Amino acid sequence: MSELIEVLSKQEIQKKVDAIAKTISSDYKDKKLVVIGVLKGSFIFMADLVRALEIPCELDFIGASSYGLSDQTSGTIKITKDINIDIKGKDILLVEDIVDTGTTLAFLIKYMNECGANSIKVCALLDKYERREKSVTPDYTCHKITEGFIVGYGIDYAEHYRYLPAVYHIKT
Ligand code: IMP
Ligand code: MG
Repeated sequence: MSELIEVLSKQEIQKKVDAIAKTISSDYKDKKLVVIGVLKGSFIFMADLVRALEIPCELDFIGASSYGLSDQTSGTIKITKDINIDIKGKDILLVEDIVDTGTTLAFLIKYMNECGANSIKVCALLDKYERREKSVTPDYTCHKITEGFIVGYGIDYAEHYRYLPAVYHIKT
């Protein structure tokens, strides 16, 4: 049996999401905000975040995965689901569950730039900064962690645990 240790409770998540949404709402006042969630891990975070925003925005999702099945990013990213809306000249907020090595994010930022975005910022639920390999830092972070594997609130371990309402450290 795997052991789950709570990292962020439902209430703590709500507080952090509300606070970050306030900051984003003020930063993007009068801008053409497009919020793009990175599938699948960001889907619950994204749903809570956009409902807490006090400004209008367009929404889309992008799917990205690294080749291979290991728990480490292989370094080569491919797009598994592209965005459908035209982001040319718009202000993009990429929503990620966890920024780890930064490989996924670096790839997506480059891709959004190539699509002609006016600006690109990143909002992450969790920043696992100690393992960073690319020089990317989320502009908005709910919580920083140093080590361990995380599940819950949209985040999976081999497709399990996404449905859990809080964030846990999993010990297998
Ligand atoms: P990066 O490209 O190394 O930054 O990897 C980021 C992606 O790896 C995240 O979007 C997650 O999907 C996945 N990931 C990284 N750490 C964890 C974790 O602790 N639990 C579940 N998925 C993780
Ligand atoms: Mg992910």
